[in-house]
Parts: sequence; C-alpha cells; structure tokens
Amino acid sequence: MTRKEANALVKQMTLEEKAGLCSGKDFWRLKSVERLGIPEVMVCDGPNGLRKQSEEEGAGINESIEAVCFPGSCAEAASFDRETMFQAGQAMGNACQAENISILLGPGANIKRSPICGRNFEYYSEDPYLSSQIAAAHIKGVQSKGVGACIKHFAANNQETRRMSISSQVEERALREIYLAAFEDAIKEAKPWAVMCSYNQLNGTFASENRWLLTDVLKNEWGYEGLVVTDWGAVNDRVKGLLAGLDLEMPGSGGWNDAKIVEAVRSGSIPESVLDSACERIVAAIMTYVENRDTEAVWDRQADHKLAVQTAKECMVLLKNEEHLLPLSKESRLAFIGKFAEKPRFQGGGSSHVNTKHWSSALDQVKTMENITYVSGFDTVDTMGKEDTDLDRKRLNDAIAAAGNAEAAVIFAGLPDSYESEGFDRKHMRLPENQNRLIQAVAEVQPNTIVVLHNGSPVEMPWIDKVKAVLETYLGGEGVGEAVIDILFGDANPSGKLPETFPVKLADNPSYLNFPGEETRVEYKEGIFVGYRYYDKKEMNVLFPFGHGLSYTTFAYSDLTVDRKRFNDEEECRVSVRITNTGDRFGKEVVQLYIQDLKSRVIRPVKELKGFEKVSLEPGEKKTVTFTLGKRAWAYYDTEAKDWYTEEGEFAILIGASSRDIRLSETVYVTPAVRHRRNYTMNTLLEDLFECEEIKDEVAELKHFCESIFVDETGENLLGEGMKDMMEAQTREMPLKSIPSFSDGKITYEYLEKMLNKLNA
Ligand code: BGC
Repeated sequence: MTRKEANALVKQMTLEEKAGLCSGKDFWRLKSVERLGIPEVMVCDGPNGLRKQSEEEGAGINESIEAVCFPGSCAEAASFDRETMFQAGQAMGNACQAENISILLGPGANIKRSPICGRNFEYYSEDPYLSSQIAAAHIKGVQSKGVGACIKHFAANNQETRRMSISSQVEERALREIYLAAFEDAIKEAKPWAVMCSYNQLNGTFASENRWLLTDVLKNEWGYEGLVVTDWGAVNDRVKGLLAGLDLEMPGSGGWNDAKIVEAVRSGSIPESVLDSACERIVAAIMTYVENRDTEAVWDRQADHKLAVQTAKECMVLLKNEEHLLPLSKESRLAFIGKFAEKPRFQGGGSSHVNTKHWSSALDQVKTMENITYVSGFDTVDTMGKEDTDLDRKRLNDAIAAAGNAEAAVIFAGLPDSYESEGFDRKHMRLPENQNRLIQAVAEVQPNTIVVLHNGSPVEMPWIDKVKAVLETYLGGEGVGEAVIDILFGDANPSGKLPETFPVKLADNPSYLNFPGEETRVEYKEGIFVGYRYYDKKEMNVLFPFGHGLSYTTFAYSDLTVDRKRFNDEEECRVSVRITNTGDRFGKEVVQLYIQDLKSRVIRPVKELKGFEKVSLEPGEKKTVTFTLGKRAWAYYDTEAKDWYTEEGEFAILIGASSRDIRLSETVYVTPAVRHRRNYTMNTLLEDLFECEEIKDEVAELKHFCESIFVDETGENLLGEGMKDMMEAQTREMPLKSIPSFSDGKITYEYLEKMLNKLNA
C-alpha cells in the first residue's frame, strides 16, 4: 500500500487511535485498528534467522521457535556475494510468511570501528561500500517474499559499552563517508520497510530524537518512505522524537507516551500533520504485508539447512595455506583437536540468537573415517589467569600425543560465547590463553598444523608463523560442520575474503585511543581513517589485510580497460577486466576495485573500495568482469558545501585480489560536472584561486606580482641563494588582503574587491 492510500485510512482515525498506533501493543506486536481493517501484525528478530518469541516470553532470548540459523553477518560479508546473500534473505523472508511475521529485524549495517565491539558478529564490515551492498542484497532477498526488512542500528552505534546512553561524537565528513554511507545505498537501493534508530546519542542528541539524522538526512535527502522504529526501549522524549521523524516506538510504554502525543497535538505543540505522516508510514507497512500475505507458505527445514551449508561455504576465508597443505587427503592420518570440532560456535549471543537443534559439527561429518582421531584439547570455559588443573594438563598432553602420531593436526579453535556477545564489548583481541597455548604446543610437535577459527571478529595470532594453514569460518551458522569438512578436504574451494583488517594487535587499531570513550561520550577522533583506510595511510604492517582470502586454485588478472579516460563525474565510466582460472580446479574469485585520488588538496585515504564482483571459473576458463563507476567513486564529502564533490584531477583505478594485492591499474582524469562555489574573501590565499577560470588573468597578474616582491630589478632572489622554495611558498600562500601592502600602491584593495565580486557573483 502506498503512503497516499494509507493516508485515506489515517484520515478516518481518531486522535487517540493515531497516537496509539505509534507504539507497539507488546514486545513483538504492532496495534490494530479493527474497525478500519488494520490488523495486528508481529515482528521478530533477525538478521541470520528468525527469533520468533511467543507473547509470554517477551524479551527472553533462547526460547524462540525452532528456525534455521544462517551464517552470521560477519561471515556473510566475507562472501562478497550479493546473489548468495539474496538467496539467504529470500529463505528468511519465506520463513517469515510461514510464521506470519511482517518485519524481520535486520540486517545490522553498523561499521566495525573497533575489532572488539561486542556485536561485530552481527555487522558486516569496516568498509561502508561492502556493508551497504551486502545489506542491500539481504534486504532485497527478504522483501522479495512480501515481508519487510528493518536495517539497524541507525546510526553510529559502534560499541556495546553504554550503548543506551553514550554520545558518539563524529564529525560530519566521517559520518557521511563512513558511518552513514554504510546504510545509504542499502536504504536507497533496497528500500527496507523499516529503519531502526539506535539507542545512542549522535553528537549529543539521542538518535531517536535526532531530526538531522531521521528527517533531514534519511527522509528528506535520501527520500526514505518507510517507517522509522526505535531500538527496543530507545525513546527518550516521545514528543521530541515524533517531531524529529521517529514513527514507531517499540515495544511501547503502557500508554504513557501515547497520551503525551495526544496532549502535544491538543496543545498545538505538534502539528497533527506530523502525527498523520508517522501513522501513514506505519499503516503502509502493515497493509503492504496484508496485501502480500501468503498463507500457503511453508518453510522446508531440510532445504533451508542445505542453503545454510551452501552459504557457509561461500563465506569461509582461507587466510594462510603454506605448501598447499590444504586441501587434505581423505586418506591421511589426521588428528582433530579442539572442543569446537565437537561443538562449534556458529552464532553469537543476544537478540540475534536463533533456536536451532540441527547444527552440524565437523566431527559428525567424519565419524566413519577411521584415519581421524579426536581429542578435545581445551575446555571452552576461560581459564585465563588461573592455574592449569590436572584435567587441563591431561587434555594438552593428549593433544600433543595425538598430533605427534598424525600426518597433520587440525585445531578447531575460537572465541567462547562468554567472550563475545551483544551487550558488552570484548576486553581484548586474544583467544583464550589455553587455546593459544594448545596451538603453540601442537605446532611444536606437528609441522603440518592447521587452525580452523570460529569467531565473530578478529583475534590476535601469536602462533601464526608456527602453523601452516588457517581457515576463518567466522560464525558459520548451523551448517558450519558440513561446510568446513567440504573445504578441508577440497570438496569445496574457499572463496571468502576478509571484510575487515586483522591487525597484528589491538593497539594498532585507529580507534584504540578512543574506544569505548569516557563516561558519556566517545570521540571518533580517527575521522574517516577507519580500518584499511588507516592502516594503508600509516603504511602499517597488518596480520591480514582487508579483502584477503586464498583459494585452492590460482587466478590471473589481465586486459584492464576503461571506456573513457577523461570525463566529468556525471558521466559513468565502465571498467572491465579479464580473470582466468589458471589452476586445476573450479574456484571463485572476488575481484575488487579500489579508487585512489592521486593528488588532492583534501586529506583522503590511499584507496577506497568502490566495486567488487564474485566470479566462478572452471579450470582454464576466462571471464570478463565489468564495473560501472559513478560520481561517488571519485567524490569526498565537502562539509562546507554540504555535498559530495569530485576534486579535478587524476585518479587511479586499482584492481586487486585484496586491498594489498593490487594486480592492475589504470589512470583516468575526472572533473566535477558542477563546481562547488566557495565564498572567496580577502583572507583567501592566492593558491586557492589558481583553478578559478573566471579570473585567470587577474590571478596570473597577482602571481607574477607576488613573485616580483622577492626579486630585484636584475632578477636576483632577494631572499638569498637556495630560497626558491620559500619564495614559491610565500607566493602561493599569500592572503589577498596582504598583497596591497607589499605592492606600494600597484595592487589596490579596489582591484581585489572587484575581482572577488566577479568571482562570488
Ligand atoms: C537490539 C535490537 C533488537 C531488539 C529486539 C535490542 O536490544 O539492539 O537489535 O532488534 O533488541 O530484540
């Protein structure tokens, strides 16, 4: 139903009915207006499966209906695969129809500012383009089934510490280029039915009542037509919220806030039209669901489980594989070590927790293989700081013995539930000490050691040089066991790439000095330099770079072409590149496109991801991958002009297999189609006028004059020998206002004023 059609229904409602509609009936249901045929509908948590609670359970976390658990968002982003994400979303959308759920609360598109944000496993990336693209695919998949998705948590909710009260202090350029951009394409392209505002404050105002965020940017600038819902319990001042663009309060306030809305409309402090508009958005969502209701829908547990396995295979990232140790032969004598082989960690804790009993373990998959022995190696209970018990020592010794007797050891390690969850941040970036110790000890006796990781975000790897292979499964969902075995034995070829940098240590991360902030505020002092944007700029060594991921086959990159070399930023530029599978098995490669502004006056990252495509290739097969680049590929956010802007000049188009493995590049020259007008004053420096075509003659004259200040009649530099650089700098950086006083009446203020008037006209 369109908003216009919804308006016809809203017009027939009483003031009380309208105010009532703006909050939930209970934890999971929206209110009905029976007499107008608007039914009560239910929502439930996502984003990686349904967490449908019964009415009685309300906020309880583990007692939801049984559902299929897909890989966590951390893993999904590693697929770099829009199609797979669409399919997973579609399966969840179908399950929503089968379970009569109108809106699935997800995906979460918040940027991974710090590797230790407790909820990173529910988010996609440190890069806004990747986040937004994967979120869009997920939303489109869910919504293709006639139910809504709800992108969250808008915005700058990048930590769990004090998440319900803290103010994220973020300057506008970083917001626009990083934190809001992670949502922007997804919202514009995929049009989620709902946007969930976050708990935190943004620059001192709660997101739930931040007019700039919810109305100026989201609704007006981005043209968002869906509804804005609070995170659960995020209302601060309901009346202010409504005025700021918050439509729906969840779960509700027992009528308290509804009454305030009624009072505010009666007293004239809120125009009734504002309330009507909120109601229109809510009614449109409810009735669109009603129109699309599919009462025949059933979800097929087996088919969805198979899809979860398939998705998990697309997501796993092979981080290291020395001497082609992987894939393993099914005939070799192997030791499987580590509790996670038996009971993998495949999802995170908190509101996204899916109740599934059908998860698979690696061990289940190999139980008929007599060449594999298993020992648990460690306990998943954290033993840090405590003395080892006899049992711990026995587990370690058994692991060493099993590893010593095998041809290779596979250690299934990872973060226990207690380390990483919604509600709190991680304290450090390490694995539990008993696991690090186990990996070191096994690697001492077994040169062919492989580590399989189960974690929602990066961990330090003090043992990295001692092991030959590392496979990152992230939180792989209920199909993790099948997927991991297929990859270890080569029935599937890994094709995931890291959606985030793995720094060597936590202190390397750009947010380190300002995470999680002080008392009421957290300052995002690193600005736009988040993730690889920072590590690249600082030329830092990292453990594994953004975009990294290996395969069992090899790919060659060739024939990079661009369809134009000089153009303005309103013209699209098409880039194509040929990828060949040069190995001997089927594989998939994620081709990444980064843009580098080769010379700019504003501070910019070394490179930024602006395109990616995943391509499947049989051995020897070649395919051409094409990217289309628009204005956003070149532009930065100009905070003075409050708009995106392309600075004229050369840009490099970099094509790579990771952010630090660039295979091909091409240079283009881009101009802005529309030049941003600045306000030029007497304090403008001469160099800031160099590109102003309108006054090019005057500027040449001024330049010539300024240079002449420093030379005598014979052309001799008055500043002395070797002072050419100083002379040039003085000229470039001369404010207009100072020129007349150097000129002995030759350049007058009148002359400069006339020139400025011409320029500012
Ligand atoms: C979480 C949301 C979730 C909601 C409902 C909140 O605490 O932040 O992501 O959708 O609860 O469970």
